[in-house]
Amino acid sequence: MLPIGPYTLKNRFILAPMAGVSEMPFRTIAFEQGAALCPTELVSAQGLFRINNRTLRYLRFNPEIERPYSLQIFGGEPEVMAQAAVIGKQHGAQIIDINMGCPVKKVTKSGAGSALLCDPPRAGQLVKLIRDATGLPVTAKIRSGWDANSRNFREMADSLGAAGVAALAVHPRTRAQGYSGKADWAVIGDLKKHVGNGFPIIGNGDVKTVDDAARMLETTGCDYVMIGRGALGNPWLFRELLGGPKPTREERATLVLRHFREHLHFVSHERVSREKLTPEEEAVRAEKAAVHNFRKHLAWYAHGLAGASHFRNLVNRLETKREVESSVEQFFLGAEHDASAPEEEYDVDYRTALG
Ligand SMILES: Cc1cc2nc3c(=O)[nH]c(=O)nc-3n(C[C@H](O)[C@H](O)[C@H](O)COP(=O)(O)O)c2cc1C
Repeated sequence: MLPIGPYTLKNRFILAPMAGVSEMPFRTIAFEQGAALCPTELVSAQGLFRINNRTLRYLRFNPEIERPYSLQIFGGEPEVMAQAAVIGKQHGAQIIDINMGCPVKKVTKSGAGSALLCDPPRAGQLVKLIRDATGLPVTAKIRSGWDANSRNFREMADSLGAAGVAALAVHPRTRAQGYSGKADWAVIGDLKKHVGNGFPIIGNGDVKTVDDAARMLETTGCDYVMIGRGALGNPWLFRELLGGPKPTREERATLVLRHFREHLHFVSHERVSREKLTPEEEAVRAEKAAVHNFRKHLAWYAHGLAGASHFRNLVNRLETKREVESSVEQFFLGAEHDASAPEEEYDVDYRTALG
């Protein structure tokens, strides 16, 4: 298995960076279930550069479990990116991952995210500058190209490789495709052939099961498999990938509760209102905001269980910590697996991270 910079990972399975999801509580859980690497969600280089307190909060991680700690940043200006990476390193980052795939306009209009696909030399320059500024391994995550007429993934790999990229993750859809259609795994196989053992290729896209992961490894020859939506509500997938069992009802209920409590703690102290409130009012608002934010996880955790749609309706009415705790215990301790459950559709929502 090719290492990533100085790091030999414990296996081939990586949690994808996901805005509003790959936060410390979920990353910690994924690591514990067996994921070998869990990069942060995308963090604004501008925010880090300006030492914005809200942005700095995204850097929190659990140094006992999150090893190596990979920080994903996005931005378009080389100097700002390099300085942001230095600040990331000062806060503990061991790998800097550059986002070159985010399709959101707010990101691409400043030359960041997937806009970097339109300028391979600048993308390479970013890698080099950040390496020089931090001395850390620098990885990148790309799409196959901007649109169907510019699928320049090989050119990107050449430019990033020449700049000394430590690993390259590829989500083989173009920017224009967003999340529609199927990920084109042939791109992953093509890239792996193209770069050989120059640096590791991380394949990504539409891996939902143990069989999918085995198929991706076998058909593309990629070094690592990165899993995003397949791990939503199912961090046990990493354990299964290593030959472990599916969760029992008790395990599921216990982990959902733990995730919820850690989420509450993680988002506590976040100001949720500009109004002047008493500390008690502030606490009530903060709890409500945290519960609202966690509803999506509850819905994902319920996927594939009998009674999931009824539970999801209930979830949308939950407001307090007590309500979440009692409904989680009632539902997850009782719910049986439902083999006839339909395929899950996931919303891709970057709003929490991008403000
Ligand atoms: C909710 C959500 C948020 C995402 N946020 C990010 C992000 O912050 N950085 C990034 O590089 N990709 C992000 N992505 C893309 C994923 O990392 C991944 O490339 C994509 O979901 C395809 O993999 P999958 O089919 O395993 O989900 C996000 C995807 C989702 C669903």
